[in-house]
Amino acid sequence: DGQTPQWRPALHFSPAAHWMNDPNGPFLLDGTYHLFYQYNQAGMVWGHTSWGHATSPDLVHWHEDAIAIPATPNEDIFSGSVIYDRQNRSGLGSASAPPLLAFHTSVFYNNPAHPDGTQAQSLSYSLDRGASWRPYDHNPILTLHPDSRQFRDPSVFWYPDGKCWIMATVVGDAQVVKLYRSTDLLHWSFLSDFQPSGYRKPGMLWEMPVLVSLPLDGNAHDKRWVMIVSVNPWSIAGGSGVQYFVGRFDGVTFTPDSLPPAGSDPAAYDWLDHGADHYATTRFANTGSGAPLLIGWMNNWDYADAVPTAPWRGQMTLPVALALKTVEGRPALVQAPAPSYEDWVRRQGVATYRDRVVGGGQSWRAPVRGDVMDIRLTLRRGAAARAGIVVRQTPDGRTGTVISYDFAKGNLTLDRGHSGNVGFSPKFSLVHIAHLAAPGGVVSLHLVVDRSSVELFANGGVLRMTDLIFPSAGSDRVSLFSDGGSTRFSAIRVATPAR
Ligand code: FRU
Repeated sequence: DGQTPQWRPALHFSPAAHWMNDPNGPFLLDGTYHLFYQYNQAGMVWGHTSWGHATSPDLVHWHEDAIAIPATPNEDIFSGSVIYDRQNRSGLGSASAPPLLAFHTSVFYNNPAHPDGTQAQSLSYSLDRGASWRPYDHNPILTLHPDSRQFRDPSVFWYPDGKCWIMATVVGDAQVVKLYRSTDLLHWSFLSDFQPSGYRKPGMLWEMPVLVSLPLDGNAHDKRWVMIVSVNPWSIAGGSGVQYFVGRFDGVTFTPDSLPPAGSDPAAYDWLDHGADHYATTRFANTGSGAPLLIGWMNNWDYADAVPTAPWRGQMTLPVALALKTVEGRPALVQAPAPSYEDWVRRQGVATYRDRVVGGGQSWRAPVRGDVMDIRLTLRRGAAARAGIVVRQTPDGRTGTVISYDFAKGNLTLDRGHSGNVGFSPKFSLVHIAHLAAPGGVVSLHLVVDRSSVELFANGGVLRMTDLIFPSAGSDRVSLFSDGGSTRFSAIRVATPAR
């Protein structure tokens, strides 16, 4: 019947059926994580976008709820964010029932007040802690003049230094982030544009901005700001991807610390992920004082509508905790799976293996099997030119996804060229390569392998690579290999879900 249960994610959210793109307005309240998403309940490709809704106690197990904010014949509901208006500053709730506010883009059709296709920012709110949502009476709350068809993706956060909320939006085709402020969440005034003379290409869209403050190297007195922007196409791994800028925010203007000279290669810029399948990253609201949590759409606009899964299409990345650390002399985002994911891993069966020295041209197959695995290990530079791991490998060893480190070049490669079904789109890129230093000759890899994805966190999350794969059923082996000399693999830990 054309269904593909072998690719149904076990550790990542996917809707039971139909199309999903961006995560929208995730938040934590009363110990429950809420996730909304761009959802077409009527089709397997993008369209009629509503906000779907799912909830989770632990960011690993998800329950799909009813659609939260439905599209209508006159309005599509595009991406945005949710905040918890704890003190009822909007007046839309009460002191005893503070409202949740969902800021989203409205795309208007057949509306006398707006030319067809106009995009503007609107508000829906919940008085029952996220269970049901209703539109604000005076939508839209923010429009651009003249009307824009590219003004979208409101991302709202509390800015304590200014005692106000800040909203970041984009005008996608102008490759600009626009910042606004408000004290009542209903009336917004313009602050500034962020439009650096950075990496730009004709036809590139800027989408889904996130502005977040982080202490550099854990130093609370050295707070920096990071502007995260999704760009499509022309990202580092082709098609859509997520870029970021480290800088300062003074309550009005975001200023990047430094930019490569205009016209530089994309590799000169900072990317949240060097794989092909991570887009529209957004931040969880109301998670308290811990590290910010992010979640993205694990897909690429280049081929999202051809992905061979059924009866659903689209899944989210693993949620991650974000930090800012000095890496090779510069501040850089560092990502690790969210703490509640790590709690889950600790409750699974974990196998550990003694150090393995794999000879040149040899491989070692781990005695563990499965289509869902959390794998950690380190590689120590020896005589080998290149060494790595093959995941979701077939028993005959002919197909699998190969993650390898080139000690001479200082490059990490994820090669999905022989990972299974790669022929569903000519744009499904096969090999992703990124620079990674090996301090002391050691590289650590953390791989989260699911039924149709591999997520890689290298050297404690300094480098992230996320890629979809579509292996055949029975691709359940894992091997280590070394080329051109031997390599020592250490601290090998493999967790597989408890049955
Ligand atoms: C990003 C995006 C957003 C928009 C949404 C529409 O993938 O294009 O800019 O709000 O998807 O579904």
